[in-house]
Amino acid sequence: MKNHVIKGLFWLLLSFPAILMVRSFLQDDVLAMDMLHPSGETAVRLMILAMLPGPLSEFFGLNRFFKGWLKIRRNLGVAAFGYAMLHLIFYIFDMNSVVAMLEEFTIPGIWMGWLSLLLMLLPALISFDFAMRRLGRSWKNIQRLVYPALIIGLVHWILLDWAWQPAMVHLAPLMIVWILRYIGRRRRHRTQRSMT
Ligand code: HEM
Repeated sequence: MKNHVIKGLFWLLLSFPAILMVRSFLQDDVLAMDMLHPSGETAVRLMILAMLPGPLSEFFGLNRFFKGWLKIRRNLGVAAFGYAMLHLIFYIFDMNSVVAMLEEFTIPGIWMGWLSLLLMLLPALISFDFAMRRLGRSWKNIQRLVYPALIIGLVHWILLDWAWQPAMVHLAPLMIVWILRYIGRRRRHRTQRSMT
């Protein structure tokens, strides 16, 4: 199968939950408020999926599976931003007035949502090939904004839900791979030192 066909199918797969959310919002008796959960959670899950292959491939070595996963990492990140935007759109529908939104802005859980989205904006805007080539090393540094974006997004979740468990369950796989990466780096560092 040609590359662009595979890419198109992959984007269709990534958009599928969004299509279902929008369809059920438009056709069924579903409130915009009810769509905040699936859209926010999908954004977080896609961010995490985009962050896992780096540390995993560093610890276990770069095999075909991780190579493929790393290749689609940028798409996963852009899709995460798309779901965060959809989440914002549902929020706007739910609030139904700019004044109400401004009034809510001072609530810590809410402004943290805005901050998280703002931090995701720049990495999403420069996610295409041309920007990657033009920006060189600084491209990677800008992409690192997704880490605070995720953490702040999770705090936003905890504060609005009054429960830390769901957010922590999502963070757990990342914590594990970060620890693995740290162990791997220390081990390599020690072997290098013993060889010199
Ligand atoms: C534009 C800024 C944002 C606003 C105004 C906003 C607003 C909200 C609101 C009102 C809720 C519902 C809380 C409730 O259950 O009553 C919510 C939940 C949530 N948001 Fe956001 N959000 C924003 C950005 C984000 C971003 C960027 C992410 C992801 C990184 C995110 C992830 C979530 C998650 C995971 C939930 C929990 C859903 C649940 O289990 O109920 N939000 N948000």
